[in-house]
Amino acid sequence: MRKLIYLTLIGLTSIACAGNESESNESETAKADSTEVVKVAHPEDDIDHHTLSNYTEVRTKHLHLDIAVSFENKQITGTATHTIENITGADHIDFDTKGLNIIAVTLDEGEAGEYTMGEYDELLGTVLSVKINENTEKVSIQYETTEKTEALDWLMPAQTAGKVEPFMYTQGQSIFTRSWIPVQGTPAIRITYSAKVTVPKNLMAVMSASNPVHKNETGIYEFDMPQAIPCYLVALAVGDLEFAEIDHRTGVYSEPSMLKDCAYELGDMGNMVNEAEKLYGNYLWDRYDVIVLPPSFPFGGMENPRLTFATPTIIAGDRSLVALIAHELAHSWSGNLVTNSTWNDFWLNEGFTVYFERRIMEAMYGKDYTDMLALLGYQDLMRTMDEETTDMQSLKLQLMSKHPDDAMSDIAYEKGYFFLRLLEQTAGRDNFDVFLKNYFDSYKFKTITTEEFRTYLVANLIEPYKLEVNIDEWMYESGLPDNCPQVISTLFNGVEANLEQFYKTNDVKKSIHASNWTTHEWLHFIRNLKEGTTPAQMAMLDAEYHLTQSGNSEVAAIWFEKSINFGYNKIDKELEAFLVKIGRRKFLMPLYTALAATPEGKEKAIAIYKKARPNYHYVSFNSIDELLGLK
Ligand code: BES
Ligand code: ZN
Repeated sequence: MRKLIYLTLIGLTSIACAGNESESNESETAKADSTEVVKVAHPEDDIDHHTLSNYTEVRTKHLHLDIAVSFENKQITGTATHTIENITGADHIDFDTKGLNIIAVTLDEGEAGEYTMGEYDELLGTVLSVKINENTEKVSIQYETTEKTEALDWLMPAQTAGKVEPFMYTQGQSIFTRSWIPVQGTPAIRITYSAKVTVPKNLMAVMSASNPVHKNETGIYEFDMPQAIPCYLVALAVGDLEFAEIDHRTGVYSEPSMLKDCAYELGDMGNMVNEAEKLYGNYLWDRYDVIVLPPSFPFGGMENPRLTFATPTIIAGDRSLVALIAHELAHSWSGNLVTNSTWNDFWLNEGFTVYFERRIMEAMYGKDYTDMLALLGYQDLMRTMDEETTDMQSLKLQLMSKHPDDAMSDIAYEKGYFFLRLLEQTAGRDNFDVFLKNYFDSYKFKTITTEEFRTYLVANLIEPYKLEVNIDEWMYESGLPDNCPQVISTLFNGVEANLEQFYKTNDVKKSIHASNWTTHEWLHFIRNLKEGTTPAQMAMLDAEYHLTQSGNSEVAAIWFEKSINFGYNKIDKELEAFLVKIGRRKFLMPLYTALAATPEGKEKAIAIYKKARPNYHYVSFNSIDELLGLK
């Protein structure tokens, strides 16, 4: 059906640091002479290598959970009932599990099921294989989670805002759902789900589904998710939660003491959904709510359908970090409606989402604001191009035996964004918008590979408008193609002029005119502090602008990183408090990396990490264990 394509990856070493100075204009043949030939894409290989399940033969259509959440045992126990479709008449169905105890399996109306467990694989876990026949409709698995779970974060009261009740949340993406529910752990298939969740009576449970708005007396909550989703989007949070409405279809959940601040910060959310719909079609998930979690949450946000999970570090007091909400909302189209078939196609989720996010931001807050976001994104991409090995620089990846979370780099996000921006620029915005809207509509509730997208793109944009775009270079090659769109931000030009003056005069008051600066101008300023900036210069900036005490997490994080780099020590107390409290990996990694660059710094890092590690989710401590060589 589809042809195999073999692509050449060229000038491997020179491209690594060259960014857009790659040799991308040379012809394929010329390139092949001087280099190693790497088969980058193998389009017939659409099967997902990150599942042990036999989902192409027999698959779950609907999942029903009947589970209880015990904080005493830090354990979820119960049954997962899979209603299945046997496509090939298979005699067994395989599920992914990781760190789960399987207690019993029954079929249909309760007859005992025969099952075996496979060998444990460090990356993928243990396959649970259940005997079935072609008439089997239901497989019920009684199970319990263990302390080896990777998805669950169990927080003690001291780790919450209220300090009285415990808290628990799940993180499914990319392949963690199997460590709290036995599932066919692939994004390639979609399931509907329902759940009955029993929690301690003083707590409330919410899921990526229809949700309660009040606690009830029984501690039993029932959920329904009638739209089919990939299993990485099944999500649960339990805590002392309250709800505040924003508009008729949006609202926010958080611990009571934070609710007012959260509702203010996310006050634009109703309009964001309206703007998103104007761009690319109706919001198809009924409600859009956000839960603001305790600070251990390892990501900025997670697009669990109907209920985005978010870090409290976006609650800055001035709505300056709400692009993250636009991002998670955009996933309601790119990612949740149209889903990457395998984690090799992750850029289809994230690149499209960054593009959509910035279109929402432009509609809400204007072009100047969005240019700043795009330019910061470009800087991130340049940094990533320097750090990533060439095999991880193409949009389409070949992860094979790598963890899919390794795909979570600015290649998927920002190279993906700039590719779509190039298509917009080449086709014209109006044409591109029609194309994208139709794309979401054509593939809604489906999954898609890079190759399927490529075919759709050629048929619906490239050929009709007779465009010439080096789409294969963007999708399949390392480095950044020469025709990467340029972003100019007049606001950032102003910041750079101030920065120049600062180094020339060494006088903060005379050189820097920051009274009207937004968060993003500050970020640009701090990011672009030059190598060799002295601790004395850092102290001057700090004395004037109190950056060490910044209540804005993004500003604080980059300020701390630069302070470590430049040997400015007056941040030590605040840095430690930040690292102990906040578990967001995006902040932690650069800070621990900066510390670990010197022997004394590394000692400091290890001492802080000892206190901080219990406050981190698996996703974060796993990365930092590795970074600090503790694994
Ligand atoms: N879906 C991602 C988070 C994710 C990716 C979790 C891969 C696990 C594996 C989410 O939408 C995301 O991209 N979050 C970003 C925020 C965003 C504004 C770029 C984050 O958490 O930093
Ligand atoms: Zn995302």
